[in-house]
Amino acid sequence: MRKKVIAGNWKMNKNLEESQKLATELVNIIKDEINNNAQIVICAPFTSLYAISSIIKGSKIALGAQNCYTKNSGAYTGEISTEMLKSVGVSYVIIGHSERREYFTESNAFLAEKINAVLAHDMTPIFCCGETLSQREQGIHIDFVNAQLSESLFHLSDSDIQKVVIAYEPIWAIGTGVTASTAQAQEMHELIRKHIASKYGNDIAEKIIIQYGGSMKPENAKELLSCKDVDGGLIGGASLKARDFVDIIKNA
Ligand code: PGA
Repeated sequence: MRKKVIAGNWKMNKNLEESQKLATELVNIIKDEINNNAQIVICAPFTSLYAISSIIKGSKIALGAQNCYTKNSGAYTGEISTEMLKSVGVSYVIIGHSERREYFTESNAFLAEKINAVLAHDMTPIFCCGETLSQREQGIHIDFVNAQLSESLFHLSDSDIQKVVIAYEPIWAIGTGVTASTAQAQEMHELIRKHIASKYGNDIAEKIIIQYGGSMKPENAKELLSCKDVDGGLIGGASLKARDFVDIIKNA
């Protein structure tokens, strides 16, 4: 039985004070209301990570970052290494979010290096994949997502691939209020698992956690999270309100 992983992606939202407030609220509500064994993660902006790590200590919440660089240290002005993230208590790192692919032109090959950097520091990468609406309309979405997986993950060993969480996030559903139907989500998750099985075999593919992301909210979380191959969620907008995020976690 795969564990459900529910991660909040705060994106470029919440200054230090707001982050501390939201993290404190989450710790309190989750303590009182959540009794399932979902892994809960909050991926906060870099500037809030250290402060949040002490707030969530001893709670069910793990700390995540939204990005990292590939190198350990050196003359890379403005970048943050996985070693630095680890040192402030981070255990999950989002890699290859569609916004980074689009606005910062991150390629599959570059993301493969980031995956290695995260694994090298014993943290869990949350690897994002997903197609645009036009790719779906052209019927090339499956090949596109498979290439994202092959080019960024298929260099990993049998043991390392099992440490990766995959987030399928159709770009047309991110921040748009449009959610993939349960049938669309289940179909893609099953195909992603099949693609992993084609390289690593069924036993390993069955163990991989595949989250859905894209306008997940309290109203649709139950349906999405009950799909056979949907093992959690990567939640943007709805993770910025403690009540909504907790109401999603309840369905895990
Ligand atoms: P959304 O974002 O929930 O606001 O659609 C999801 C994401 O980008 O990870």
